[in-house]
Amino acid sequence: MQKLLVEGGLRLGGRVEIAGAKNAVLKLMAATLLGKGTFQIRNVPMIKDVFTMQGMLSSLGPKISLANNVMEIKVDELSGDATSKLVQQMRASIQVLGPLLARLGKVTISLPGGCAIGDRPIDLHLDNLEKLGARFFYDNGYIVGEATQLVGTELVLSYPSVGATENLMMAACLAEGTTIIRRAAKEPEIVDLQNFLNKMGARVVGAGTETIRIDGVKSLHETEFSVSPDRIEAGTFVIAGAITGDEIEIENVESKHLESLLVVLKNCNVHFTVEKKRIVIHQRRKPLTGTNIVTGPYPAFPTDLQPQFTALMTVAKGNSEIKETVYNNRFQHAIELQKMGANITLNSSSARITGVEKLVGTSVTAADLRGGAALVVAALVADGITEISGVEHIDRGYENFEHKLNALGAKVWRQ
Ligand code: UD1
Repeated sequence: MQKLLVEGGLRLGGRVEIAGAKNAVLKLMAATLLGKGTFQIRNVPMIKDVFTMQGMLSSLGPKISLANNVMEIKVDELSGDATSKLVQQMRASIQVLGPLLARLGKVTISLPGGCAIGDRPIDLHLDNLEKLGARFFYDNGYIVGEATQLVGTELVLSYPSVGATENLMMAACLAEGTTIIRRAAKEPEIVDLQNFLNKMGARVVGAGTETIRIDGVKSLHETEFSVSPDRIEAGTFVIAGAITGDEIEIENVESKHLESLLVVLKNCNVHFTVEKKRIVIHQRRKPLTGTNIVTGPYPAFPTDLQPQFTALMTVAKGNSEIKETVYNNRFQHAIELQKMGANITLNSSSARITGVEKLVGTSVTAADLRGGAALVVAALVADGITEISGVEHIDRGYENFEHKLNALGAKVWRQ
């Protein structure tokens, strides 16, 4: 297994260009199953999760090509057998459930995998698809779903789950009549999905608010689309600039998607300028200070930036508290940061941190995607070399991560 090595203490500077959003593109790919024809998706990040989804969708029939961040998906006849090993590798593979049910009326799917960051049930997906008329049963470890004709109705989510909102939106596009999703998730990636579905001929309004209305249509057609920037990748580079205290320009970012992070960084004395599509982190003027955050569904502080922010707080003056409300086991990175000299007291859903003067490079292990990014961020300011195992997690979600960091002046390499 490869390791990522990071030499700490180097000055960063320059520009970094943000790729398309992982959590948007995976759902757009799934949405193509609702239609027929050739779909072109641009600004596709070249990351492992996209390749896994490509393999998984191909196993259902579509022919997919991907080069230079442009993906072409040709959808014609489909199979409802989503039991390939790839399904188990990625949480987002559950997103084919809604489209396949709506399009074929029958689907067999493995339980999805993904990052080990806590319990990740799919009850909200299944219960609400049942309210649209689907039936589910377990067979030999697989979930089998059937629906002769989905029928729109009012759905009230007990929690604004991103994946459940998206699955229901997609299924409802081909349902008879109108579906209203209340307490829907409001993440920007859901707005991308709405825009994509509408370009396919769907009738969806309200994404980005807590009520989404879908008027069912008979069929959907091919289209083209460009994916919005990845707010989590952008946030990771913002935090990299904040921790090193160096000037970094982050280009091709939807700054308003990062408001919750930027508000908190201001409280920590991070100095930056924000334009619509660009964030510049300026050289540190005052010492970085600790603060408290609570993660939550958008527009609250994103759980996917919690690990990187935790890394930042380990070297901030004073005390901080990080409360994780979205997942029940998302602090493995904190244990690794302790090995680097961080002063963190953990309990099940929160971390109390007292900032230290210096972190120290050592051998650490990334247990999940964003936790891995947090270790890289910490390593940028650690004394000496940090050796990070579990790089395969980082590769799931960051395009050319070390190349982008090295272009900014860092020294990151694989071994
Ligand atoms: C998506 C993102 C992930 C991000 C998360 C929250 C993708 C591919 N992944 O994941 O990076 O961390 O949103 O912003 O887009 N839950 C249930 N039952 C369900 C569904 C979810 O209890 O049926 C719980 C989960 O266990 C979790 C919480 O709800 O504790 C949030 O999950 P959800 O919003 O569904 O996240 P994902 O769509 O899986």
